[in-house]
Amino acid sequence: MKKRIANAGVFSAIVAFILVVTACSHAPNTSVDNATHSTVGLSQQAVAMPDSYSADAAMQVLQEGGNAIDAAITAQFVLAVTLPEAGNVGGGGFMTIKFEDNTDFLDYREMAPENAHRDMYLDEQGDVKPYESLFGAKASGIPGTVAGMWAAHKKYGTLDWERLLAPAVHLAEQGFVVHEKLANNIARYISRTQEKGINNNFSEYFAQAKAGTTFKQPELAKTLKAIQQQGKDGFYKGDVAKHIVDFMQQNGGLITYEDLLAYKAVWRKPLHLNWQGYELVTAPPPSSGGVAVAQWIGMLEAYDATHDLPAQNSTEYIHVMSEIGKRVFADRAEYMGDPDFVSVPVEALTDANYITQRAADIQPTSISDTPSVKPGLKESEDTTHFSIIDRWGNAVANTTTINLTFGSGVVVTGAGFLLNDEMDDFSAKPGVPNFFGAVGGEANAIEPYKRMLSSMTPTLVTKDDQVVLVTGSPGGTTIISSVTQSLLNALLYDMSAEEAVNSPRFHHQLLPKDTIRMHDGFTEATVNELKAMGYTIDNRRFGDVHLIKRTKEGVEAASEKSGRGKSLVQPY
Ligand code: GLY
Repeated sequence: MKKRIANAGVFSAIVAFILVVTACSHAPNTSVDNATHSTVGLSQQAVAMPDSYSADAAMQVLQEGGNAIDAAITAQFVLAVTLPEAGNVGGGGFMTIKFEDNTDFLDYREMAPENAHRDMYLDEQGDVKPYESLFGAKASGIPGTVAGMWAAHKKYGTLDWERLLAPAVHLAEQGFVVHEKLANNIARYISRTQEKGINNNFSEYFAQAKAGTTFKQPELAKTLKAIQQQGKDGFYKGDVAKHIVDFMQQNGGLITYEDLLAYKAVWRKPLHLNWQGYELVTAPPPSSGGVAVAQWIGMLEAYDATHDLPAQNSTEYIHVMSEIGKRVFADRAEYMGDPDFVSVPVEALTDANYITQRAADIQPTSISDTPSVKPGLKESEDTTHFSIIDRWGNAVANTTTINLTFGSGVVVTGAGFLLNDEMDDFSAKPGVPNFFGAVGGEANAIEPYKRMLSSMTPTLVTKDDQVVLVTGSPGGTTIISSVTQSLLNALLYDMSAEEAVNSPRFHHQLLPKDTIRMHDGFTEATVNELKAMGYTIDNRRFGDVHLIKRTKEGVEAASEKSGRGKSLVQPY
């Protein structure tokens, strides 16, 4: 699978941080208006989703003439019902959009409550309290999902909001058949939190969800109906808001009614990168993902300018990508945070000369000295992603999260949804290792109404102004590796969508020192060679890529086999 990069000139103007004007035309939001979309023209439309309920519901919206954003809104709310590990109304996320000739980026990341402060997770000695930013009401940022979906609907929606929410309301009210993997995740979560002595109401809501049985969520159905009937006010005002605030007051949480009213989803300019004749459209800060992907593919290209491009998943490839990972995560820890609070040097971090210079000392066979590179940082493992392309060629890459699997583990009494534990994505104490043994930087310290740094990287790739790839993944910091490698697999190493998502991946993020996380499936020889070089291998799997690839032959969609995803490509 070895392929030379045609223009190995290392990012010369490659990582052009083009702040493209993103004033997208507003489609009407109450009826289908095909005429506004007629320019792109595809005979197929596709969804790549983390479960079958979201896949079927999103495809149905597309078949009814809804656009990719309509389908994304439906999928987001369905996942809040059927994928409680990460799907949510109590969390947040990012949506990267290509609509007609424009690109756009919706930031519906959670925000720290007004009463949050820098040292809120430290004890009297100034040490980080291990579980407080991870479990319970105090771990939650102000949820952004409902405001985000409402903003997406207002700007791009073509079908009725009520219709888009209908599948989620139905699945919560009438129930859905529990997948074995969900039942196992619930059982594992209950036993692990019990072992840790964590006291929460998770079991009360989820213990009865056994594999193959129908699971109903009446309180969640009520919440979704309020959102269906009142739009975002159904969540940030009225009964649902009251349930949230009461729950916070009774359980030591910080979110107030004023916080809920203060929450705003933000439209940002996506990060645009020119690479190999393609244009990547990806996540800007407060995601670290777009900058990290730019650095990763840029340094690989810089390496290729002086060495041959290594074969995909060869020992040299894994080593070189790990060396790049060290440098990427050192920068991430030092410089990245919420751009509304700190100045993030995006242009400098993606500058061609800087990237070339960063890659210059990467050696094909020896590992660089970790302490000489500034340390990387933390994050958790869940989150979920989906990809959509509609008949007009509009596309959505959406990654959404409540942070850890099942978020903070607490369900808002009366409202029936899990709250996020996104506060852990801040640095509880800048410069000091957190619960997971990693560190964060000053730029990501807690401040009222600040958004915590994320790795979510929903990414689109276009060529000649047409979307050729939609990709993304869950997995905390490993998201960046999953996205980078899925796009390299699909576009640089010419794999099909199916191959690109299922080819084994690896991840290196500076710390733990010289440790590579690797999927099963690499050859024994490769693993032994990496060990002989001095690497420690960590076999924990990560990520769940849902990818759509468009070629001359048509559209392919694929969901990683290890998950419970479903992808559909249908003619319309
Ligand atoms: N909570 C995972 C992320 O935002 O990266």
